[in-house]
Amino acid sequence: MTRNVRAYAAAAVLTLLGSADARPAQAAPQEVLDQPSATADPHEWWKHEVIYEIYPRSFADSNDDGIGDLNGIASKLDYLRELGVGAIWITPCFPSPQVDFGYDVSDYEQIDPMYGTLEDFDRLVAEAKKRNIRVILDLVVNHTSDQHRWFQESKSSKSSPKRNWYIWRDGKPGGQPPNNWLALFGSPAWKLDPTTGQYYYHFFYPEQPDLNWRNPEVEKAILDVSRYWYKKGVAGFRLDAVDTLYEDPKLPDNAVIKGTDKFGRPKQDEVHNRRLPEVHDALKKLRKAADEYGAVLVGETWTNDIAELKRYYGNGDEVQLPMNFMFGMVNKLSAPEFRKQIKLVEDAGVWPVYVISNHDIVRSWNRYGDGLNNDAIAKSLAALYLTLRGTAVMYYGEELGMENNDPTRREDVKDPIGQLGWPEEKGRDGERTPMQWYPRTHAGFTGGTPWLPVPASAMTRNVALESYDPASILNFYKRLLALRRSHPALREGDYVPLLGDDPNVLAYLRRTNDAAVLVLLNMSTSIPNLRDVLAGTGLQAKLGRVLAATMRSENATVPVDAITLRPLEVLIVEIPR
Ligand code: NOJ
Ligand code: CA
Repeated sequence: MTRNVRAYAAAAVLTLLGSADARPAQAAPQEVLDQPSATADPHEWWKHEVIYEIYPRSFADSNDDGIGDLNGIASKLDYLRELGVGAIWITPCFPSPQVDFGYDVSDYEQIDPMYGTLEDFDRLVAEAKKRNIRVILDLVVNHTSDQHRWFQESKSSKSSPKRNWYIWRDGKPGGQPPNNWLALFGSPAWKLDPTTGQYYYHFFYPEQPDLNWRNPEVEKAILDVSRYWYKKGVAGFRLDAVDTLYEDPKLPDNAVIKGTDKFGRPKQDEVHNRRLPEVHDALKKLRKAADEYGAVLVGETWTNDIAELKRYYGNGDEVQLPMNFMFGMVNKLSAPEFRKQIKLVEDAGVWPVYVISNHDIVRSWNRYGDGLNNDAIAKSLAALYLTLRGTAVMYYGEELGMENNDPTRREDVKDPIGQLGWPEEKGRDGERTPMQWYPRTHAGFTGGTPWLPVPASAMTRNVALESYDPASILNFYKRLLALRRSHPALREGDYVPLLGDDPNVLAYLRRTNDAAVLVLLNMSTSIPNLRDVLAGTGLQAKLGRVLAATMRSENATVPVDAITLRPLEVLIVEIPR
């Protein structure tokens, strides 16, 4: 793993500088922050606002118990507003035994006491609204916790009215489970329950029994949950694990295919318990409920190809924002690879949703960084997903250049995946560490002991320090986010690829009838000379004005017919029309 720990020398000085929320050198102008990113249709705010993912355990701890909470998030709303995001997606904050850190929900209509109360939640929504920030929650509807009262009732007897809310089956003779399906998290997908002698199905941990979506009562209960939160002012949901909602009720074995998974088990072709067509019926119903409230659905849509991704949009009647992980998982800073992924989405004629990182994947710092130029690479990625046509979903801490902080000893691992799969699979703790606010103990996240440790690099990579450094990743994000809101070409413009199949430079134009922005990302350490980059676009300009750049001053003039880029340079230029 790349460790790019810088000197600690600045830390002492920084502590004197005080609040991380103080106005930085390059803050966006007030009028940009106050201006909602308007489009013709106000329900389509999600096309232009950046959605910021918050892992609530790790964002800000208001009561020093080492675990982040809703009041902690509320205390950072001014930071988020200044950063320039338009919505926060909070991963599950409902009551939960926390086996999968909230993705095992035991009550869908309450807040887990460790995160606060419903009143805290209402206050958070109201305070966020004052700052033009919407709140998106996480709807975990493939499964509940085994401690949810629905499951407790369901397992109590075969004749329970809730029995059919989950998937119960007899085992095969000889004490074998009903079929060969495997859980994603390292065990068979069936668990024998001694109360009734039947097995229940779980795609994830045994503590996460799958709901039976073929039961209309289940469907209704989930739609009611969604409406309950819409009525509280929630602007939408991120839909967890949608591709696993349905299983073939005849339970045929999955074919075993070549290779082993990270737990050493022979792989299976999961055709009978994943990506069933019925998923789209459920999504249409969730969308209908969302439409009653003008809400947005963001999909956790891991897909193998663009056709599969496209299906999640339905005919405009399913998920508005299915996240494109094929883009985020390119996993090398490669102009041709990113160009290809962008083209696939653009050609598909859908509204793109770009994601670089989240709480289930190693931070982009480690996946894309080369160990020498990580800052420049982080800025290049930021410029990429924040200037493309489409919605951007960003993960907390990406704006600082936060790195993964993986456990080094099995006994420190908190994520059960890491405990099960150690040492090959270290789990997801590394990408879920506390947000880095100050150059202080535990990065100022908590006055107690944080549930996960911060890396040593937090002493230099934190909001306080980066706010005062005009060249920081944080200030580059702020600049990009402000531009995205204020520049018509970045807000409304189409995407015009440039420079054909250049191996090093990803170049494109964002263009409306009246405005144009040229984006040049040198994704290599070479020094390319670009001639006539606008050839074929009909634009005649010879000179452009720098809007944002990593190696030139803002407002500098650039000769667009002959530009030499520095290694890994990012250059965003306004072209007169
Ligand atoms: C996807 C979530 O992002 C992940 O964190 C979780 O473990 C699984 N779904 C199960 O809910
Ligand atoms: Ca707390």
